[in-house]
Amino acid sequence: MDRIRITGGQPLNGSIMIGGAKNAALPLMIASLLTRETLTLYNVPRLSDVRLLMRIIGNHGVDAGIGGKRVDQREGEGDSITLSARDIVDTTAPYELVSRMRASFWVIAPLLARMGEARVSLPGGCAIGTRPVDLLIMALEALGADIDIDSGYVVARAPKGLQGGLIRFPKVTVGGTHTAMMAACLANGDTVIENAACEPEVVDLALCLNKMGAKISGAGQSRIEITGVGRLGGAHHEVLPDRIETGTYAMAVAMTGGNVLLEGARADLLQSALDVLQKTGLQISEEAAGLRVSRQGGVIAPVDVTTAPFPGFPTDLQAQFMALMCRADGTSHIRETIFENRFMHVQELVRFGARIKLDGETALIEGRKSLKGAPVMATDLRASVSLVIAALAAEGETMVHRVYHLDRGFEELEKKLARCGALIERVSGEH
Ligand code: EPZ
Repeated sequence: MDRIRITGGQPLNGSIMIGGAKNAALPLMIASLLTRETLTLYNVPRLSDVRLLMRIIGNHGVDAGIGGKRVDQREGEGDSITLSARDIVDTTAPYELVSRMRASFWVIAPLLARMGEARVSLPGGCAIGTRPVDLLIMALEALGADIDIDSGYVVARAPKGLQGGLIRFPKVTVGGTHTAMMAACLANGDTVIENAACEPEVVDLALCLNKMGAKISGAGQSRIEITGVGRLGGAHHEVLPDRIETGTYAMAVAMTGGNVLLEGARADLLQSALDVLQKTGLQISEEAAGLRVSRQGGVIAPVDVTTAPFPGFPTDLQAQFMALMCRADGTSHIRETIFENRFMHVQELVRFGARIKLDGETALIEGRKSLKGAPVMATDLRASVSLVIAALAAEGETMVHRVYHLDRGFEELEKKLARCGALIERVSGEH
């Protein structure tokens, strides 16, 4: 198992290319199941989650190809992939695969909409909380699907096709909104989704579905309207830049000081997080090539944060921000309102000497002038990168174990940071 060794204390200077968003690429890839024609996606990040999803949709009959450069392709841009689901050969998504990546549960929507049936394993819990799929099931039922739970599988049927309907989510859910949109595209008649997620990745999926021939309006607002169509076709679509990767590197610079251009980053995708970072003392400016972030000296000011659905402060940046607050000049509070158990990083941050107290959904962080490197263990994707951020500013050496979590969502993290002056390297093999 690979590890990452970091010697802290170096400022970051240079530029970092921001990749395509993992959380947009995954639903876009799943959308390829909706059509017999080819969906071509550009700027797909090279991540283990992407490779795993290719295998999963491959089981259903998607023929996937990687490669082929575009004339206008930027240096360091992600892969171009072609996905062709000419024939769906299997409508079952097995436990072995769905349990490895929750988002693969979303295949239930295109399989059901196109084939009239799907059998998809319940994903089970994960490190950040129980994460049920009841709202996704509710959405499919609102479109006329018959749902049974059989031996750990959700069995969904709509032999005469799905019917448009009203889906009113009692809670904002990104996966629920993706699922509802994909299913409703091929349903008979009109669908309205109320209290829809407004995340940029939802907008990106809707844009791509519309290029494929869907009729979706309102994506990015809390009410989405969809008129079902008989069939969808192929399309070409570029994955939007990863706002979580952007925010993560911005926090790394806020932590270490320095001056970095985040190439290809878009401020509008994470304005609330940027506002918070500015209050901590980070300077941020928009340039033609991306976002420039810098901090030259001065202290890190403590700022209180509450996670919320978009456009609020993203839960996927909570752990990274906590790492930053561990070195703030004072006390801060972080409230996690999206997932009930997304504090696995706290015990690992404490190993750096951080002072954090948990009280229900709130963490109280007493900032310290210095942290000390330590052996730590990655527990989930965003938690693991928070340990990297802490290590970049800690005195001495840190070894981060179980970095396969990082590889799920950060392409070439150690190379991108090393090019900016960080002392960071991957150590391969057993320890
Ligand atoms: C997406 O997960 C992201 N994953 C998550 O990123 C992200 O943290 C999350 O949205 C919130 O922004 C992908 O896009 C692949 P939700 P998702 O449905 O869709 C509850 C990462 O690190 N809920 O918006 O699964 C749920 O338990 C990952 O990249 C139900 O109760 O999240 C949570 O409390 C981690 N019933 C809340 O809603 C349901 O049926 C929001 O979850 C569905 C969700």
